[in-house]
Amino acid sequence: MAEKFTRTDLLPLWVADMEFKIPKKAEEALIERVRHGAFGYTMVSDSYYEQYFNWQKKRFNVDLEKDWVRFSTGVVNSFFWMVNTFTEKNDSVLILAPVYYPFYDAIRDNQRKVVTSDLINRDGRYEIDFEEVERKIVEEQVKLFIHCSPHNPVGRVWTKEELTKLFNLCQTHDVLIISDEIHQDLVRKDVSFTSALAMDENYFTHLIALNAPSKTFNLAGLLHSHIVIPNKELRSRYDDYAKTVHKSALSTMGLVTTEACYRYGEEWLEDLLEVIEFNFKLLEEKLVGAFPKIRLTDKQGTYLAWMDLSAYVPPQEMREFMEEECHLAIDYGNWFGGDCDQFIRINLGTLPKYVEEAADRLIAGLKKRQGK
Ligand SMILES: Cc1ncc(COP(=O)(O)O)c(C=O)c1O
Repeated sequence: MAEKFTRTDLLPLWVADMEFKIPKKAEEALIERVRHGAFGYTMVSDSYYEQYFNWQKKRFNVDLEKDWVRFSTGVVNSFFWMVNTFTEKNDSVLILAPVYYPFYDAIRDNQRKVVTSDLINRDGRYEIDFEEVERKIVEEQVKLFIHCSPHNPVGRVWTKEELTKLFNLCQTHDVLIISDEIHQDLVRKDVSFTSALAMDENYFTHLIALNAPSKTFNLAGLLHSHIVIPNKELRSRYDDYAKTVHKSALSTMGLVTTEACYRYGEEWLEDLLEVIEFNFKLLEEKLVGAFPKIRLTDKQGTYLAWMDLSAYVPPQEMREFMEEECHLAIDYGNWFGGDCDQFIRINLGTLPKYVEEAADRLIAGLKKRQGK
């Protein structure tokens, strides 16, 4: 907090990790591995693949093959590598804004060109502007598209129809899709998530999926994630790139804990989803109840609430209002691009009492502003 907000007295609701302990049995598996006491190089066991594949099959109807899977120390690392593998300097890479800010970094820091298509906000539900996407792909000769599915920060879980339209456009114009599915498990009960890997195999010529247990089970610090490349030619291009950076690391702790989470963690996850839903409703009832012009985005996925405060706080005063008046450390809309200065993002992966506290602080701050 000191680094990011230059102070330490704020209620922390920004970075997307959670304040929950991992499933007990996963913690036990980790402790048992620690007790073993030796931490040399490791390999991926058959039982790991079995648990990972079962999870993907059961939850998303995805059939994986061992051959398709590569490992990484994180999804952000992975999409940086994808940009390097599959594009050249100055090539155009498409993203849908607003979006998770490292997407921009992966493109810019590798001297590629960021091409954005803004999502359309229809009364708190975001949609893709397919016409603009196609126009930009053609005009900018886009080579790669990094897709956030489910989408951080706008909380959309894309429908199969939307994915079909998007993937058809990419295939028609020979654009490779990197589908970042790190939030795939964090989906509201009445909503169904479609993985890119559950789409028609014809799309596999233009598709790489990234997923991980880190958001789902709060394991980000264990540095472990998956790159799934069903197409042989794309796989061999990635493998050639991986050789040049000698990319062979595996996280022992990540593997052990992930396997246990997939094996034992389903009930824990179901409970977590209830807490997140409860927190979202709590925030909505309190905040929108008190200030009806706050536009809280319909959250279908992720544990992140995205809201438009423009009716009450001018964008240029947002930071001062959040930190000086409300004492909250949140993500600011302008970090995500797409002209979202009037938005904030609040992390709901915490105890309801902290969400309530955040809502109370916002309400008090807004009342004070109105009294001015
Ligand atoms: C869309 C998205 N991708 C990737 C990450 C981070 O992935 P990792 O910690 O595995 O690098 C996040 C974290 O919030 C995210 O929201």
